[in-house]
Amino acid sequence: MTENPQASSGDGPSLSRSTPLDPRYIELDRLLSQSQMFDAIIDEIDGRRIRIGNDWLVDFASCNYLGFDLDPQIMDAIPGQVRRWGTHPSWSRLLGNPRLYPEIEERLTYLLGAEDTLVLPTVTLIHMSVVPALAGRGTVFFDSQSHKTIYDACTFAQGLGATMHRFATGDIAQLEELLRNAASSPASESRRLVCMDGVNSMTGNLPDVTAFARLCREYDALLYLDDAHGFGVIGERRADEASPYGARGNAIVRHVGESYDNVILVGGFSKAYSSLLAFIALTTPLKNFLKVAAPPYLYSGPSPTASLATVLAGFDVNEARGDALRAELYRLTARVLSHVRALGLATPNTSGTPIIELPLTAGRDLAAVARNLWRRGIYATLAPYPMVPRDQVGIRIQVTAVHTDEQIDQLNDAVTELVGLGDLRIGIPRQRGGERS
Ligand SMILES: Cc1ncc(COP(=O)(O)O)c(C=O)c1O
Repeated sequence: MTENPQASSGDGPSLSRSTPLDPRYIELDRLLSQSQMFDAIIDEIDGRRIRIGNDWLVDFASCNYLGFDLDPQIMDAIPGQVRRWGTHPSWSRLLGNPRLYPEIEERLTYLLGAEDTLVLPTVTLIHMSVVPALAGRGTVFFDSQSHKTIYDACTFAQGLGATMHRFATGDIAQLEELLRNAASSPASESRRLVCMDGVNSMTGNLPDVTAFARLCREYDALLYLDDAHGFGVIGERRADEASPYGARGNAIVRHVGESYDNVILVGGFSKAYSSLLAFIALTTPLKNFLKVAAPPYLYSGPSPTASLATVLAGFDVNEARGDALRAELYRLTARVLSHVRALGLATPNTSGTPIIELPLTAGRDLAAVARNLWRRGIYATLAPYPMVPRDQVGIRIQVTAVHTDEQIDQLNDAVTELVGLGDLRIGIPRQRGGERS
């Protein structure tokens, strides 16, 4: 999700709990109290079905794109490693690394075709520590629809002395002008960092990495890409690829055939690989720099052993069956997208990735639409304001490789019924890239 609720400040109305509430949180606060699809307690799961209280629903809100969360081979990898290493290696990485770490980084480096990689527990921790470390007192430029965690990291970098600029999504000309101005400004250090999503977490679309990378090389800037949603789903293009997602799931840089020159790729295992770990693909000197300059490497508790074990087993499954799973993911996603398009819905997804946002008809109440979905047995991600701009409030569907065709039928039928109720916006999607409201 992309919007930044903290952008406005000031005294708003207060919660009954007497905490002052920023006006921009009001809608979110209302949904929290009114919608069962927020903050739900899940009582049980059965494949992609979840039970909440007495209701069984098909889950289209998880990001377990490859279904690794349910894969017996991956589950079975946990007990042996836990016996060997205990439940949690409670050293910070600087203090001690179970051998699982170099094994993971070597296999990941090979998979991505990068010079080197560094893993830390989450993408958020990486952004918050690496963006300020790389930016120093230089300049950070961020895409206006970047993930909230990138925005926060840029703000933190600004607090530590960097200059921060925003550019509209996809607007290369605007970014070039900002880079040119920064290059001629004597005020800041020369370090420049351009931050954006890879596969966008709301639209499912990809930026023009080749054009942005070229511009960054020209202005000696680093392109910092967060491909949390692309890693495991999209990968290198090959003549024998099993689907248009490409092969091996080795993320956006390889998918578009780019090199890692002037590019820092960040990704996570907590979506397609269903494990709590995240990575940075970078040069070895930069890795060594971050070992002393990125606080989570020095001070944070690491991922639990179970996550390290499932990442390693995930590499095995990815190698053996990943492309078949991605082909199935592509097929199921295409079934939803072609239905959505046949209905004329305004989804922004033009890429075919398994993130399908369906904006609401103007004036519709998200809590009421969520109730309509629930009655039809579907659980989805709600995207309220200020998590997205006001005109893009809607629901987000995530497909996984282990949904069944019957579950996709149930989703498509539910979407048709929501259209009949007038809940979902028909028409051409509004272009992302504009201003936040
Ligand atoms: C694009 C993007 N970046 C970062 C994150 C946060 O990742 P993590 O949970 O690893 O901190 C998310 C989570 O949804 C995301 O979608």
